[in-house]
Amino acid sequence: MKNIVVLISGSGTNLQRIADAISNGEITNAKINLVVADRECFGLQRAENLHINTILIPRGKTFSAELEKCIPKDTDLIVLAGFLSILSKEFTEKFNGKIINIHPSLLPEFGGKGMWGMNVHKAVIDAGEKESGATVHFVTSGIDEGEIILQGKVAVDEHETPETLAEKVHQIEYEIFPKAIEKVLKIPL
Ligand code: GAR
Repeated sequence: MKNIVVLISGSGTNLQRIADAISNGEITNAKINLVVADRECFGLQRAENLHINTILIPRGKTFSAELEKCIPKDTDLIVLAGFLSILSKEFTEKFNGKIINIHPSLLPEFGGKGMWGMNVHKAVIDAGEKESGATVHFVTSGIDEGEIILQGKVAVDEHETPETLAEKVHQIEYEIFPKAIEKVLKIPL
C-alpha cells in the first residue's frame, strides 16, 4: 500500500477527486493518510468528511519545518493539490522525487512567483493565448520548475473569462491528476 499526504489551501476539489479515484480504482493500492492545510479552508472539511486525519499549520516562515515533523515516516508521495505556500529548499531536497504539484497552466508558461489560481487565468487571457491547460510536475526548490509528469490542454475561446477558463482547467485537472499519481506511484524505487 502506498501512503499519500495531500497539501491544500483551498476548496479541495482536487483532493476530493484523488480520494474518489482511490475509491473507484483509478489509483490502485494507495491511501491518503493525512491532509495538511496552511490556512482555514473548505478542503479541511472535505478531508474530515472523507475521514482523513487533518492538520492545520498556519502559513509563514516556519511552515516547512513544522510540516516536516508531521509527515509520517512511511509516506511514499506528497501531493500538492491547490496548495499555495512555497516549500523550503531543505524540505524539497529532503523529499526530492516524492513531491508533486498541480498547476493551472501549460508550464513552463504562466508559472513562477505570483502565478496561482485566478492570477494565472487572467494572465493567459490578457496574453491572448488560444490554449491553456494544467500541468502535474515534480516539485523542486525552483517555483513550478520540476520535471513535467503530465499535461492536459483546453481551448481558450473568444469570449473566455478567467472564471470560465478556471472551470475548464479544473475539469482537465480532474482528468490528469489521478493518472499522474498512478504513474508516479508505479515508478520503481
Ligand atoms: C487548482 O486549479 C490548482 O491547479 C491551483 O489551485 C486550484 C485549486 O483548486 N493551484 C495553483 O494555482 C498552485 N500554483 P481546488 O482547491 O478546488 O483543488
